[in-house]
Order: sequence, then C-alpha cells, then structure tokens
Amino acid sequence: MAIPVSSSGTFLSAVFLILLNTAILGAAHFWSPEKHAALFVFGDSLYDPGNNNYINTTTEYQANFWPYGETFFRFPIGRFSDGRLIPDFISEYAKLPLIPPYLKPGVRNYEYGVNFASGGAGALVQSHQGFVVDLETQLNYFKKVERKLRRKLGVGEAKELISSAVYLFSVGGNDYLSPFTFNSSFYDKYSKKEYVGMVLGNFTQVLEGIYKIGARKFGFLSLLPLGCLPGTKILQPGNTGACFKEVNLLMKLHNRAFPKALQAIQSQLKGFTYSKYGFYTSFSERLENPSKYGFKEANVGCCGTGLNRGVYSCGGKRAVKEFELCDDVSEYFFFDSFHPTEKAYRQLAKLMWSGNSDITEPFNLKTLFEL
Ligand SMILES: *[C@@H]1O[C@H](CO)[C@@H](O)[C@H](O)[C@H]1NC(C)=O
Ligand SMILES: *[C@@H]1O[C@H](CO)[C@@H](O)[C@H](O)[C@H]1NC(C)=O
Ligand SMILES: *[C@@H]1O[C@H](CO)[C@@H](O)[C@H](O)[C@H]1NC(C)=O
Repeated sequence: MAIPVSSSGTFLSAVFLILLNTAILGAAHFWSPEKHAALFVFGDSLYDPGNNNYINTTTEYQANFWPYGETFFRFPIGRFSDGRLIPDFISEYAKLPLIPPYLKPGVRNYEYGVNFASGGAGALVQSHQGFVVDLETQLNYFKKVERKLRRKLGVGEAKELISSAVYLFSVGGNDYLSPFTFNSSFYDKYSKKEYVGMVLGNFTQVLEGIYKIGARKFGFLSLLPLGCLPGTKILQPGNTGACFKEVNLLMKLHNRAFPKALQAIQSQLKGFTYSKYGFYTSFSERLENPSKYGFKEANVGCCGTGLNRGVYSCGGKRAVKEFELCDDVSEYFFFDSFHPTEKAYRQLAKLMWSGNSDITEPFNLKTLFEL
C-alpha cells in the first residue's frame, strides 16, 4: 500500500501509519488469512490419507499394509499409493502442513483444515455401501468441525477461516465403479442419463450443504478415464486388455453434465467460486504417451497380479493373496490396479495447482487460494 506523503499530509500520514500498525498488531492475535487459507478435503481413495484405517471395513477399502506408502512415508500410512497423493502436494504448494485424516485419533486442530475422504466412497450412499464413509457422512463430519472451530476461535474468526478455505473434491468415480465391483442392482434400475443425474444431484446437495456452512472456494476434478485402469479393464466381459468402454462412456456423460451442474449452482449460490481441473485429459495424455511424461509403463500396474496386474491384490491382504511388485516404481504410472504412483500424482497436482486455462477452468487452484 502506498501512503502519500506531502508536506501538508505528513501529520495525517503519521497518524494513519500508527492506526495501520495497531490494526496489524491487533490482528496478529487472531487467526490470519494472509498466513494460510485452510484446506478441507472430501471424496474417495484418490484423496483418502488414511481415514479408512479407522472404520469397520475390509482390506479391499484399505491401504494400511506394505508395500503401500513405501516410497515416501516408508511405512503403510493408509494412502492408496506408494507415497503422497494430490492433496498432499496441494498442501505443500499452499505452504500448509500435511492435512491429516479426520478419523485419526488425536486429530483435533482443524485450523489448517482436515481431510474427510474415504476410499471407495461415492456421491450415492449405495456406492460400496457399508464399507466406506459416504459423502453425506463426510458433510456431517464437516458440520462437527465447524462447530468446534466456532467454540475455539469464536464466531467471526471461524467464519473467516471457513470462507477463505479451499474445499477439494474427488467424487463420482466409485458411483460408476461400484455397479461393476460391488452390487449392480441399484444401477440397473436407471438409464445411464438418469444415473448420472442422480450422482450429480447428490453431489450438488452436499456442495450446497458445505456452502451453507460458509464455504465459498471449491476445487474439482473432471472424472478420470476410469475404464482404462488396469483393475477396471479386467472387469469387462471377455477381458482383452482394452479399456472398458461402458465405463468410459459413463465418465464422458458425467463430465459433460458436470459443468452444467456447476453453472446451476453458481447461479443460485452467491459467491460460489471454483477451479475445475481437466483430470480426464491429463490422465489420458499420460496413458497414451507415457514416455513423453517420463514413464516406461502406463498399462501395467507396479503392484498386483494377473493381466496388467489388474487383479487388486497388492500387498496380499485382500481376496487374492498372490501379487507381484515392480523393481522401480518410478517407471510406472499406476501403483496398484486402480491408483496412480506418487510420481504420477505429483505431475497431476502441479497442473491442477498452476496449469493454464487449457486444463484448469476458469482458473487454477493457486488463483483460487489467492482469492
Ligand atoms: C464390522 O462389520 C462386520 C461386517 O459388516 C460386522 O459383522 C461386525 O459386527 C462389525 N463390527 C463392529 C465392531 O462394528
Ligand atoms: C444390492 O443393492 C440392492 C439395492 O440397493 C440392495 O437391496 C441389496 O441388498 C444389495 N445387495 C447386497 C449383497 O449388498
Ligand atoms: C440421491 O440419490 C438417491 C439414491 O441414493 C436418489 O434416490 C435421489 O433421488 C438422489 N437425489 C438427487 C437430488 O438426485
């Protein structure tokens, strides 16, 4: 801020400077949004930092055993990768500490944010029902966090923290996977278009709920080419190793309808701002042209068994016990049958953070944080 100083304005400026100083020193006692905008995270295994370690589920929905986590954390922390996930990189770029899992015992400081994501969760309660923390429950946890922040910081400061925070979502993949991996009877009752409408309808309700509490800044992903994951390819009848077309068709339907849903939300909720990252495009580019991005292998997973290591057995603690593990994880795009490596996540997170308008719209996450 420039403070004009002229001979006649010197005294006024000096008074102004004192007032300004007082304001800054006074504010220093409070939570200061200049220091950090908090990060709250919702969604599925792409973002789950280990919440599923603490729920009653099965190892199909957990990654808290070797060799998960081996590259970065050196121990199995519950992340579905060899190391860090997108929210971990985003918190680093935003100069925040690692954002902890909400369900981890002892996590009580929410001033930098907290992560509610649960591997296997979708927008619909039916998706992997009974084994995951569904999105509505994640919203209910957020409501509890907001009440605790209010008690700790007071109404005004809590409101400031909530409204300046960024809310990241990875939601939808499991709504389209669950019918093929878990239970198709709910999915079978609807046309594809109706089903997509229901997924986005439920997602929208949760976004409205979060907005109502005071959230304004949202970060989204388009859905990935889910049909091209090693673990999805093998789910199709007559398994040839090609991408599962029906699943990718659903992704495309969802990705076309999602921007319209966001526009509808924006026209109703004043101040709702978002950054959406073209995850489908970035992901596909790497699967189609791995060497351009420093990968030797984007077809076969590093850890698993069967065709393309598409059988979800990494770690030998799930239904299938045998698994193979690659020697050099840095050559691979996929760590297990369904999830990218830390190296892949880092590239994707970088683009989400600072990518230009080809891949982020209407702006990137860095800009969203700075608003
Ligand atoms: C955990 O879930 C299993 C199967 O759904 C159930 O049989 C068991 O009672 C549950 N345990 C607890 C402690 O809730
Ligand atoms: C499958 O989903 C249907 C409809 O939601 C439900 O009634 C049924 O109990 C589910 N079956 C299993 C095995 O979970
Ligand atoms: C949300 O999903 C349920 C099924 O779980 C469905 O019956 C309901 O219509 C959906 N809500 C919206 C607003 O789409």
